[in-house]
Amino acid sequence: MKPVDSLKGFGVGLRPCHYADFLSNQPKVDFVEIISENYMVTGGRSIETLQEIAKRNPVIPHGVSLSVGSSDQLDWDYLTRLKKLVDTLNPPWFSDHLCWSRHQGHYMHNLLPLPYTHEVAKFVAEKARIIQDFMERPLILENVSSYIEYTDSVMTEWEFLTEVVTQADCGLLLDINNIYVSAVNHTFDPMDYILGIPANRVRQHHIAGHKNKGTFLLDTHDHNVPDPVWDLYRQSIPIFGEVPLILERDDDIPTLDELLIELNIARQIFNATHTQHTHTSA
Ligand SMILES: [Fe+2]
Repeated sequence: MKPVDSLKGFGVGLRPCHYADFLSNQPKVDFVEIISENYMVTGGRSIETLQEIAKRNPVIPHGVSLSVGSSDQLDWDYLTRLKKLVDTLNPPWFSDHLCWSRHQGHYMHNLLPLPYTHEVAKFVAEKARIIQDFMERPLILENVSSYIEYTDSVMTEWEFLTEVVTQADCGLLLDINNIYVSAVNHTFDPMDYILGIPANRVRQHHIAGHKNKGTFLLDTHDHNVPDPVWDLYRQSIPIFGEVPLILERDDDIPTLDELLIELNIARQIFNATHTQHTHTSA
């Protein structure tokens, strides 16, 4: 695989319905992101396809089952298989979520938020450090969208996130849509979140759409990115600068051409805002 030292630009989540487009053309993306667990197998068609696509496109492995916040022991079988995949792709980092999704070996199939306490932050940071050391590559943790809060919490989500990544010495995958969804659901100002985290630890962004369920927003990745999420991305650019971005789509997936038109909106917003900010601050 082509080694990747650093990443810039704009990409999409690689989904099987777009394999043929990637194999027959060179779509206008700077990199792609995969769901790691879909490729943690030995051989088979999906791995062969991925290897072919990875020859022309940097690939970031993004996991959904690490469950770094779980009180379970680390799953060394999972980590060993993940390391094998990550080493093959040779990305500048790998990612998963700051959440828990496994308890006593049972998977919830949900990325659940953690209680925001100093004790939990320390516990998660220690696990993240062990994982990062084992993988011999930077781990970046993603903020999840949430629908519940714990009465045990003693700080905000962004204070908790800051405490974890600082103690673990790892990076952040900041999902702009997840901030917006949680801000609406828990009635906080999303800019407080964006201004409250250490900007120098943000390595990558996600952006996506969600569903309005009337009394709350649900992070479904089945719609185009709505205007308030684009607005939040626009407002974040002067704070975080040039951060590689992945457009996520997991349901009602459009053609790759349609997805790339949407990805181009992100490019245009970044170019317009970054240029404007550079001129203003010059
Ligand atoms: Fe995300």
